Amino acid sequence: MPHLSPFEWLGDALRIIDQTALPLEERYIVCRTAEDVADAIKSMKVRGAPAIGCVAAFGMVLAAKTALAKIRCRHEMFDELMRAKETLASTRPTAVNLFWALDRMTKVVTRCGTNLDELISELESEAIAIAREDVEANMRMGMYGASLIPERANILTHCNAGALATAGYGTALGVIRAAHEQGKKVHVWVDETRPFLQGARLTAWELQRDGIPFTLISDNVAGMLMRSKMVDLVIVGADRIAANGDVANKIGTYSLAVLARHHGIPFYVAAPTSTIDLSCHSGDEIPIEQRDGEEVRTILGARIVPADVPAFNPAFDVTPHELVEAIITERGIIKPPFEEGLKNILLIQ
Ligand code: MRU
Repeated sequence: MPHLSPFEWLGDALRIIDQTALPLEERYIVCRTAEDVADAIKSMKVRGAPAIGCVAAFGMVLAAKTALAKIRCRHEMFDELMRAKETLASTRPTAVNLFWALDRMTKVVTRCGTNLDELISELESEAIAIAREDVEANMRMGMYGASLIPERANILTHCNAGALATAGYGTALGVIRAAHEQGKKVHVWVDETRPFLQGARLTAWELQRDGIPFTLISDNVAGMLMRSKMVDLVIVGADRIAANGDVANKIGTYSLAVLARHHGIPFYVAAPTSTIDLSCHSGDEIPIEQRDGEEVRTILGARIVPADVPAFNPAFDVTPHELVEAIITERGIIKPPFEEGLKNILLIQ
C-alpha cells in the first residue's frame, strides 16, 4: 500500500484528496491558486492542523506563480503575497500550524532579493521542506509514543489525527501505527466524532487500509467502555497547545479527558512542536472556531431536524493540562510540569 498523504504538489498546482467525500468516494480536487487552497481549507476538503499548514504553504507558492503573469516588480509581488497570506490565514482560526507555516513562508519572502524567479524557487523549496519535515516529525513522534503503548492495548482515539490530517503518517494515529508496526497487537476504538464524522469516515478508513484492528463506536459509548475496563489509554492530536499545556483539539476531546481521568486511564496528546504556541499562556486565549449549525442539523448533507432548529457548533474545545498525562512530540515526550517542558523542547534544534 503506498504511503498516504492528503495532498500532492504537482509543480504548478496542488492535488488534494477531497476529505468531505471519503470514504464512500475517492475524489480529488486540483488547486491552482491561493484562493483555491483557501476554499479547500475552509470547506474542510483538507483538514487537520499540520495538513492545513502544509497546504497553506503551497498556497503561497501558487500565489507567487500566478502573480508572475500580472506584476512588474518585487514590490508588487510582496503586496500580492501578503494578500494571499491574509486570505489563507482567514480560513480557520484554531490550528496554529496554519499561522506557523505562513510565517515560515513570509520569512522567505522578506529574506529574498529582487530576483522573482529565485523567490519563487525558494518559496517552493520551503513548502516542500515543511511537508517533508512534517512526515519526519510524525515518524519520530510515532517512535517515542509507541513506548507508551502496552502490548495488546485497547486504545481510544477521537477525530482523525492520521495521515490525512498531516503530510503523512499522522500524529496520534502515527503513534498507533508505530505500535502496530512494532508488532504490538493493539486494537483501536474509533469514535464517530460528530458532527463532521472525521473518526467514522477518515480514521476508520485509514486503519482499515493499514490492517490495524479497530471498532467503530458512536461518541456516547466511551464512558461505558471505560467503566467496563475496555480502554487502556486515550490518544488524540492537537490544534494548538498553550504555554501551560492546555490543549485545543476537536470538540469532544475534553469530555474524553474528563472520563479518562475519572477512570484512571492515561490521556495522551501527540503533536509536532509546530502545534505549540507559547504566545497563548493558557487555553483560554486559544481562538475557538464556530462552524455553521447546519453541520449539526444534518448528517452528510441529509437533514435530521428542520432548518430553523437552533444549533451550537464549536469545532474545538480545550482540555486543561491537569488532565493530560503526557505530550508526545517529535523531540521527545513531555511530562508535567508542561510549562517548563514545552519551553525547553522548543529550544532543542
Ligand atoms: O476540524 P478538523 O478536522 O481540522 O480537526 C482536526 C483535529 O482536531 C485533529 O485532532 C488535530 O488537527 C490534529 S491532526 C494531526
